[in-house]
Amino acid sequence: MFRHIRSDINAVFENDPAAHSRFEVIFTYSGLHAIWAHRIANKLFRKGWFTFARIISQFSRFMTGIEIHPGATIGERLFIDHGMGIVIGETCEIGDDVVIYQGVTLGGTGKEKGKRHPTIGNNVVIGSGAKVLGSFSVGDNSNIGSNAVVLREVPDNCTVVGNPGRVVKRNGERVGDRLDHKQLPDPVIEMFREMHKEIESLRAEVEKLREPVAGGETRS
Ligand SMILES: CC(C)(COP(=O)(O)OP(=O)(O)OC[C@H]1O[C@@H](n2cnc3c(N)ncnc32)[C@H](O)[C@@H]1OP(=O)(O)O)[C@@H](O)C(=O)NCCC(=O)NCCS
Repeated sequence: MFRHIRSDINAVFENDPAAHSRFEVIFTYSGLHAIWAHRIANKLFRKGWFTFARIISQFSRFMTGIEIHPGATIGERLFIDHGMGIVIGETCEIGDDVVIYQGVTLGGTGKEKGKRHPTIGNNVVIGSGAKVLGSFSVGDNSNIGSNAVVLREVPDNCTVVGNPGRVVKRNGERVGDRLDHKQLPDPVIEMFREMHKEIESLRAEVEKLREPVAGGETRS
């Protein structure tokens, strides 16, 4: 219990350069309060005390603006920065050393039953406003950009941005359909290529016209 509390506080110092003292962190970080309330709610939920668990979770939501379903599984050293507007679904699983910013939803699509929320790997950053929807996994060390809407599996070591979310970096290398700035199309060269093609086809036509027709004359 105390080991958990200590590592939760240390996670704040590791991730937030604005944190000044333990006293300040313990009393003013609503992300920490939500995680601590969740640990109690989750224990009750696992014992089958669903309503009590839910009451604690709702009270925590009222105080912090962070709604964590008591059934959600949360790993070590989760850091929730700012909080407010965060929703974490019942069957969501979160690994260790994850950072979640304000406005994140780890939810379902409304189409699934049973396991319907995402599984987040270790050391994942989920930017503000990002929505991760469905029962797929987000791999270890991946980054979800702020405001991304992620609807399918994310492998390890990836950066996903946009709506719908797509992988733009994997293992530190750019991937996907984004423009490669080193190979931007040059409009002048493109125009010359088109002109060259046009000249070639005109030349072929002229050659055809010059061919002698029956009777030994050329077409005029
Ligand atoms: C995604 C993020 C984690 C950076 O990850 P990264 O692996 O370092 O990625 P990069 O910064 O190299 O960006 C990769 C590409 O994605 C783009 N990108 C990054 N974040 C993006 C976003 N949220 N939406 C759209 N595109 C984004 C970058 O412009 C870059 O594009 P380019 O290669 O064409 O230049 C970061 O941009 C982010 O969104 N962090 C969340 C921070 C946050 O929510 N802060 C709130 C504080 S209150």
